[in-house]
Amino acid sequence: MIRVTRRYRFAASHRLHSEQFSEGENRALYGKCNNPHGHGHDYVLEVCVSGPLDPVSGQVVNVSTLDQLVASRVVQDFDHKYMNADVREFQEVVPTSENILRVVEKRLAAQWNSVFPGGGTHLESIRLRETRRNVFELRTS
Ligand code: NI
Repeated sequence: MIRVTRRYRFAASHRLHSEQFSEGENRALYGKCNNPHGHGHDYVLEVCVSGPLDPVSGQVVNVSTLDQLVASRVVQDFDHKYMNADVREFQEVVPTSENILRVVEKRLAAQWNSVFPGGGTHLESIRLRETRRNVFELRTS
């Protein structure tokens, strides 16, 4: 079993604000991330895939196939967007990095079996670097 990690980048803005809380509670919970007009990050997204080595291609995953999937289902929709308004899932949930990971996982999982048929190629984990101090990781198993 070999793991391959591929790195992507996108720039996006967000505001951390929940309708479940009052204005004061939002400010207390999210601090400056609750500022009304949002702020941006240069996100780094790492997608980690595992699987058996294909003896013919010598590869675990076709990287350009993975790139196409991540570009069409994630990067195109997120890059240079205000996520709260422009990415439909974030009309329901707050675009924290934790929730971004869940949305990315769901979007990739929805297409996974048609893009990588046969079941040998697994989405192992997704990491999201939001700032120099914050890295989040979702493990699928
Ligand atoms: Ni932020």
